[in-house]
Amino acid sequence: MTRLLLLAVLVLTASQAGANFALPPLPPREEFGTIVIDRLSSQNGQKPVVFSHWLHRSRFTCRVCHGELEFLMKTNATEITERANRTGKYCGACHNGKIAFRHNGNCEKCHNGDIGYSARRFEEFLLQKAMPMTATGNGVDWSEGLRSGAIKPQTYLKKKSQDMKFDKELLLEAEMTIIPPAVFPHKAHTAWLDCDNCHPDLFNIKKKGTHFTMPEILKGNYCGVCHISIAFPMDECRRCHPDMRDQ
Ligand code: HEC
Ligand code: HEC
Ligand code: HEC
Ligand code: HEC
Ligand code: HEC
Ligand code: HEC
Repeated sequence: MTRLLLLAVLVLTASQAGANFALPPLPPREEFGTIVIDRLSSQNGQKPVVFSHWLHRSRFTCRVCHGELEFLMKTNATEITERANRTGKYCGACHNGKIAFRHNGNCEKCHNGDIGYSARRFEEFLLQKAMPMTATGNGVDWSEGLRSGAIKPQTYLKKKSQDMKFDKELLLEAEMTIIPPAVFPHKAHTAWLDCDNCHPDLFNIKKKGTHFTMPEILKGNYCGVCHISIAFPMDECRRCHPDMRDQ
């Protein structure tokens, strides 16, 4: 009982509760979501490839790359090769001199090993698009940016999604009733993602009553697949637990 009370005190105030979980440190906002791909580069005499999510997601929804183009949501997991790129797969689906710069003559634009490579373009982007802001992650409210039309990312290259509309908002109740439930809005997700980005691998809806505990999420499972490194990070308690108090 004492333990429960203690927990209540700790978690009902979001800012104090944050200290309760080991949240991973956040990079500068222009580097949030920037990944270094080096499955093959270094061992083949090239600098690692640096890829910015913010730059690409402002122009394409996640499903274009993580559905149509079959990039996996795990750095260094996809078998990207220079040859595949040059035959129009993976990066080469766009970096072909038509949609974006081509491979020839532009090696160092990708193979630069410099995590800050696109930083100069970030402030430009914020100003140009008048993006709505938040406190963490890229400092950008991507959901609101999409709703307001500040950005209009392309939703497919060749293959339009056949997915049905599904707007259901779910309340995910924690095992402890003292914790304000987390919300899961389908609509805010299907604007970026296809059903099969989440079902059945990340969320198996046949298995009822799964509790996605914070320690599991912080290990990079469930919501943590995206909400640690790409979508707004776990620090923003109230975006998922709207009834949690601020102070
Ligand atoms: C649009 C981005 C992009 C450009 C431009 C680009 N590459 Fe790559 N390249 C990649 C990616 C991504 C990989 C996979 C990286 C990894 O796993 O380390 C890769 C892999 C490679 C590899 C690893 C071995 C192999 O066969 O796949 C070599 C070598 C390579 N690129 C050379 C080049 C050279 C030379 C150029 C310029 C003529 C170039 N790349 C331009 C993105 C690019
Ligand atoms: C232009 C293509 C592109 C777009 C658009 C894109 N991604 Fe990615 N994403 C990638 C690539 C490439 C990787 C690395 C894959 C690899 O190395 O195997 C990646 C990796 C990831 C990872 C793994 C990160 C890690 O820390 O290992 C996650 C999670 C992810 N993406 C989520 C998203 C989400 C969510 C969106 C939409 C908001 C999105 N991506 C949009 C290309 C894209
Ligand atoms: C769905 C299309 C698409 C895919 C797939 C894609 N890109 Fe891009 N990329 C773009 C566009 C469009 C731009 C913006 C071109 C510009 O304005 O210079 C861009 C820009 C870039 C830049 C320039 C950053 C800067 O600061 O100038 C880099 C680096 C880059 N992409 C790397 C990659 C790598 C590496 C991959 C594969 C892992 C990849 N891209 C896959 C469309 C794509
Ligand atoms: C970003 C991840 C994500 C995407 C994308 C997504 N879902 Fe879900 N979905 C969830 C989560 C999380 C749950 C709750 C799972 C649980 O309670 O175990 C859920 C639950 C459901 C349920 C059960 C609803 C209920 O009342 O229990 C259905 C049906 C469903 N999703 C259909 C869809 C369809 C159809 C799409 C595509 C249009 C879709 N989902 C896209 C994450 C997602
Ligand atoms: C991306 C969404 C998301 C964010 C951001 C988030 N949570 Fe959660 N949280 C959840 C989900 C989902 C659950 C599990 C609900 C269930 O059991 O099904 C949960 C459960 C919890 C629980 C219940 C006990 C446990 O360990 O699971 C606590 C306490 C909690 N969150 C606190 C926080 C605090 C404090 C923050 C901010 C530092 C935060 N959460 C940020 C989604 C989120
Ligand atoms: C496959 C990736 C992915 C997974 C898994 C995922 N999300 Fe998200 N979520 C996103 C993206 C992308 C956005 C758009 C906002 C952004 O990128 O910051 C988003 C937005 C949201 C929003 C904000 C909606 C708004 O309108 O402002 C909430 C709340 C949210 N997610 C909760 C959750 C919860 C809770 C879970 C786990 C049950 C979860 N998400 C799992 C990718 C994901």
